[in-house]
Amino acid sequence: MADLDGLKPNKEFFTDVPQETEGFFLKGSNQLDWGMKNRLARIFNPKSGNTVMLAFDHGYFMGATTGLERIDQTINPLIPHADTLMLTRGVLRSMVPADTPKSIVLRVSGGPSILKELSNEGIAVDIEDAIRLNVCAMAVQVFIGGEYEKESILNMTKLVDLGNRYGIPVLAVTAVGKDMVRDAKYFRLATRICAELGAHYIKTYYVDEDFDTVTSCCPVPIVIAGGKKRPELDALKMARSAIDEGARGVDMGRNIFQSDSPIAMLEAVRAVVHEGASPEAAFELFNSKKG
Ligand code: 5RP
Repeated sequence: MADLDGLKPNKEFFTDVPQETEGFFLKGSNQLDWGMKNRLARIFNPKSGNTVMLAFDHGYFMGATTGLERIDQTINPLIPHADTLMLTRGVLRSMVPADTPKSIVLRVSGGPSILKELSNEGIAVDIEDAIRLNVCAMAVQVFIGGEYEKESILNMTKLVDLGNRYGIPVLAVTAVGKDMVRDAKYFRLATRICAELGAHYIKTYYVDEDFDTVTSCCPVPIVIAGGKKRPELDALKMARSAIDEGARGVDMGRNIFQSDSPIAMLEAVRAVVHEGASPEAAFELFNSKKG
């Protein structure tokens, strides 16, 4: 029987205080459902509004990329220093400890290897498996201007439909063909198409000129990929400029795990992304933590 004796009487109804109706800290995301917002808030830090995603999904088309030959040895020690892990389900299940508190962005597109036409991807993970793995977002490559442009866009829209059904955000990754120009005009086109067709956030590359026009006309958050390995100070300068020009974080791989001191580099990137550090101050931090 319910214990109804000695119940505390209601005391304060706050009748003259309107209920708080908070907005959501990420642009373009305020009208999403609770589960979707909750997952985004596990990827992006609600305090800084930004994220440091550690990308190590390269093997899904490149095989054992330099620095990723033994993920248990090289990447697992980095996990505590990242906000989010971007990886494939194979690596997640075989290498990443299941007790990690980190949010997972699962690579769900795939198909061709570097030996074939890369834009010919399909959806390579069933939504049920993404749910089973408790992921916070699904990442899909979109090849605007590529040979299989339409198919890659439709991969994305199918995932957006599934993601909306189950409350899982979709990260559209804008992939640029080798012979295509990487400039603000191209990225304005690519990111806007992905956002218009429903992507919840978008990964793109930083460009030196007019990157702020890319972030400004994209209605949802943008994060930048790191790209090929460059000297640490240069990578930190790129991250600083991207954040200053409207990016909400980085999804960085090779510039972290191919650094001589990956943990120091990850900490330096965090200082830029979350604490507003200058590239020079972050580079000093890198040097002090190196080794
Ligand atoms: C591969 C990816 C990678 O995750 C992305 O390119 C980030 O890694 P990097 O900083 O090494 O470029 O999406 O398609």
